[in-house]
Amino acid sequence: MPGMEYRLEQVEGVEDGGRLFVRGPNVMSGYLNSDTNAKFKELNERLMSDTQKLLVAAKAGNLDALKAAMDPLGETCKTCHDTFRKK
Ligand code: HEC
Repeated sequence: MPGMEYRLEQVEGVEDGGRLFVRGPNVMSGYLNSDTNAKFKELNERLMSDTQKLLVAAKAGNLDALKAAMDPLGETCKTCHDTFRKK
């Protein structure tokens, strides 16, 4: 995407992943007012915790837990996109 910046930062204790920072004109428009900012942050934190659960299940090799962790993650993606992504 033009004008977008991505940065993946290593997070302590996470081997094969990290924290993804995205910066760009569309994403930045989400920071214009603090309510929007708070909502975005909340969804971002949900994304982090959902991803963490997925990672734990994957490392444990637990397929059922992996499947169970997929649905909430997909829901988090969708909720954020419905709210913040340009249609
Ligand atoms: C905290 C909010 C948020 C969450 C959670 C989120 N996204 Fe996004 N995503 C966005 C925004 C905002 C954009 C649009 C960025 C832009 O167009 O500049 C985007 C764009 C994308 C795109 C690019 C689509 C395109 O048309 O270029 C993909 C692919 C994507 N997201 C996948 C995912 C997946 C998969 C998940 C869940 C694992 C997820 N996202 C979770 C906010 C989020």
